[in-house]
Amino acid sequence: MSFSDVSGPDDLDPYELLSWYAESGVTEALDDEAHDHFAEAPQPAPMRRPLPAPGSSPLRPVPARPMPAAVAAPDDAALTARAMAREARTLEELREAMAKFEGCALKATAKNLVFADGNPAGRVMMVGEAPGADEDRLGLPFVGRSGQLLDRMLAAIGLSRQNDVYIANLLPWRPPGNRTPTPQEVAICLPFVQRQIELADPEILISVGAPSAQGLLGFKGIMNSRGKWVEYDTGTKRIRAMATLHPAYLLRQPLQKRLAWRDLRALRAALDGKA
Ligand code: URA
Repeated sequence: MSFSDVSGPDDLDPYELLSWYAESGVTEALDDEAHDHFAEAPQPAPMRRPLPAPGSSPLRPVPARPMPAAVAAPDDAALTARAMAREARTLEELREAMAKFEGCALKATAKNLVFADGNPAGRVMMVGEAPGADEDRLGLPFVGRSGQLLDRMLAAIGLSRQNDVYIANLLPWRPPGNRTPTPQEVAICLPFVQRQIELADPEILISVGAPSAQGLLGFKGIMNSRGKWVEYDTGTKRIRAMATLHPAYLLRQPLQKRLAWRDLRALRAALDGKA
């Protein structure tokens, strides 16, 4: 939600008004001016045509033409994303394609494209949900509090993002206010992250959190699917994949770290050829 989407009570002082917005989930200022997005869209000026000459046949009505959509319909956008992703031959070309892509409305409210961090030649690729505020500001995934926890979790099994792990997200643009991505947004951006996995060509894929587990591995519900090895087809080969709990969830529910620890130990064993 944006400040301009909600009108607040008029009689509050500015500090109270800001608090009221924050409590309503309005965390982004998109513009200096408030816009009423519920107001009717401006109609195009009527097309003027010359009057018929006296005695000639009267004007025939012009058939109505649909107005062009501001953003492509989700299906068209996903098809465009698929075509652009397929054309990219390297991760750098993929990043450039994503920067040019105009089919996802999240791009308009995000500050940066958040493409990836870590080592693209690492044996493990991790895919989270979507950038948060810190990631959006810096243009890098998992750099906020949950990213710091992720780094500590990796260090506990002897891995680092500098050397061993390539990190990306299901969506490369931040959903306003950190809301959960919609199924349409996931469908539109999915071809990009799928191609990113194919080009990075990791040995093991880890989906971090429920949206990634659902989007990439088809899991419904993270609690009963986490920690299970499955096969993921990158398009050129089949690799091992597993879903695990999101560090943001672990920050809220520290007792669940024992489950994440089990998943991490399974990952370590797989890398060591012991599982
Ligand atoms: N959460 C995610 O899923 N990804 C990030 O990059 C940051 C937080």
